[in-house]
Amino acid sequence: MNSFNTPSNGPSLKNKTHFVTSGPASAQNTVVFIHAFPLNHKMWEAQTSALSAQTRTIAYDLSGFGQSAANEGGCTIEFFVDDLILLLDSLQLNKVVVCGLSMGGYVALRALERHPERFGGLVLCDTRSEADSDAAKIKRSQAIKDLTEKGIEAFANGFVQNACSAKTREQNPKLIAQIQNWITANSPQSLSASLIAMAARTDTTASLANIKVPTLILVGEDDTITPLAASVSMQEKISQAALQIIPQAGHLSALENPTAFNQHLLQFINKL
Ligand code: MLT
Repeated sequence: MNSFNTPSNGPSLKNKTHFVTSGPASAQNTVVFIHAFPLNHKMWEAQTSALSAQTRTIAYDLSGFGQSAANEGGCTIEFFVDDLILLLDSLQLNKVVVCGLSMGGYVALRALERHPERFGGLVLCDTRSEADSDAAKIKRSQAIKDLTEKGIEAFANGFVQNACSAKTREQNPKLIAQIQNWITANSPQSLSASLIAMAARTDTTASLANIKVPTLILVGEDDTITPLAASVSMQEKISQAALQIIPQAGHLSALENPTAFNQHLLQFINKL
């Protein structure tokens, strides 16, 4: 278990980022995993253990989630990107492969846009490049209201109903309970702050054509939050992108079907 204190230089830079590493430090590739809203780095345990024989992995908690402190002064996707770059700098990692699921994908796409030289590969899971529509922004506002009025347990319950496929909900109650526990371990304030950050995020679609690194796009076949069409649209615009559909999985494909997810991930990383 590791964590580090980033230098004090503005709201996001006072943050304490918690991360875990696995795999050989001398490995050819380092993969940095960015978790979904409203989870934490533990969602990547099946992936980091599958990769760790040959690949160095880093899974960290975004500020305000898991064991990372919330940024003073608010939360934006820009601050999440600042924190990611600080993490890479602090670990003296010049170039990594970045793998983000959903909100983690929003961070990864914006990081690629701002700092393309820091990335040698990209894995986009259950995510999209488009910014929120007005309807989506209004939905986020309602989600914050519900979170405040009905509490974080009800929020966690609603989230798994939307995010996980019916099959996962029926057949994997242990996973559902685990996801709910991760969600309720976060503070409602951090969840609200990230909902606002997601509503305020920029649209990265125009810069997809500038992504020149090998890219793998993964999407659960039953993902209704960021459906297949969003992945197809990104694949069409990124020059070296492969798209794989993860069967028997909803929005949290890495958790719902880690076997299929890891098969594609390992194949992709081993070819880099
Ligand atoms: C996530 O899984 O990170 C979120 O559901 C993404 C979103 O709400 O846009």
